Amino acid sequence: MTPMPTERRFSAPGRANLIGEHTDHTGGLVLPAAIDRAISLEVRPGGDTITLRSDGAGEEVRLPADGSEGPDRGWGRYVRAVAAELDDAGRRPVGLVGHLSSDLPQGAGLSSSAALEVVVATALCAVADLPLDHLELARLCRRAERRAVGVPSGIMDQAASILARAGHGLLLDCHTLEHRHVPLPPDHLLLLIDSGVRRELEASPYRARTEELGAALPVLGGRRPADVDPEELDGLLAGLDDVPARRLRHVVTENARVLEVEAALRCGDLDRLGELFDDGHASLRDDFEVTIPELDTLVAFARGAGATAARMTGAGFGGSIVALVPSARAAVVGEEVVDAYRRRFPDRTPTVHLCRAVDGAGRRPPPVDISET
Ligand code: GLA
Repeated sequence: MTPMPTERRFSAPGRANLIGEHTDHTGGLVLPAAIDRAISLEVRPGGDTITLRSDGAGEEVRLPADGSEGPDRGWGRYVRAVAAELDDAGRRPVGLVGHLSSDLPQGAGLSSSAALEVVVATALCAVADLPLDHLELARLCRRAERRAVGVPSGIMDQAASILARAGHGLLLDCHTLEHRHVPLPPDHLLLLIDSGVRRELEASPYRARTEELGAALPVLGGRRPADVDPEELDGLLAGLDDVPARRLRHVVTENARVLEVEAALRCGDLDRLGELFDDGHASLRDDFEVTIPELDTLVAFARGAGATAARMTGAGFGGSIVALVPSARAAVVGEEVVDAYRRRFPDRTPTVHLCRAVDGAGRRPPPVDISET
């Protein structure tokens, strides 16, 4: 009798970026953490098609194992793009039947698309015995995101979902992919508050911001914004129009803030951490112009309620804020902020997620056989 193929479970977490926003698309520095909200995938290998069912979306996606055709909308387009990228990378077109489940909210700025790409790519590599190292996997998933959505996003989300470490932020150079893990305050939790304002990258001004920034880059003479000392800014920005100048000022100062946040975390200077998050949020609001009144209000309320540090997280234009809050007060702070926010924006439905920083998919134990015996 032919043995039943084994069934295996994979999972990939979402992320909250702590600092280093809109720096990855010019190869800069970021400091995200993976959160304990994830997408899981149980698969049984075999055949030459990929068939996935999703609890949340309630629909089935089916496509050839090489990703040569398939959905170009909805969550299925990410599956197709991952399969096609893996085909380009030489994966044997082994199919699978799988079941997706998730406690990671979609459209909340917590990288549900990256988590989906990573979990699908990991499973497809495993069933075809294709060993990809972690950095290669992150690069491939980033290419898949661009292929699926057509937006020039960076590598932060995919890298965080793979490389992050429990209790730590991931300081990543998005150009070289060198990285190190920075311990987070052990007595704090990550308080994520979803504004209830939905945004999709392709329908947002994300691309426009990268183009406005791109118009300023020639003044750097080939350097990355991450290689520029903020002290040089006055001279560099002098000849630029206002909009490109402000976009570049955000990115240069934000790269510097990533290293300052690392220093503050390493020496436990929580006041400085709070100031740096405040400065980062103000820069995203005034110079990069990606915040919205809902996010500005949530950040102000969180600071007022006693968060050690708070700022918007992710691309902006909607989505969530991230705050570091002493664990003992985190739930109360979350409630206070959300009550005040509901009074200010009665049409919005905010959601609180109290999270811990967890290991990325690449640091998790190898998937086990979960077949019934
Ligand atoms: C989105 C993109 C990332 C990054 C952030 C902003 O999450 O997917 O690559 O650019 O926005 O920092």
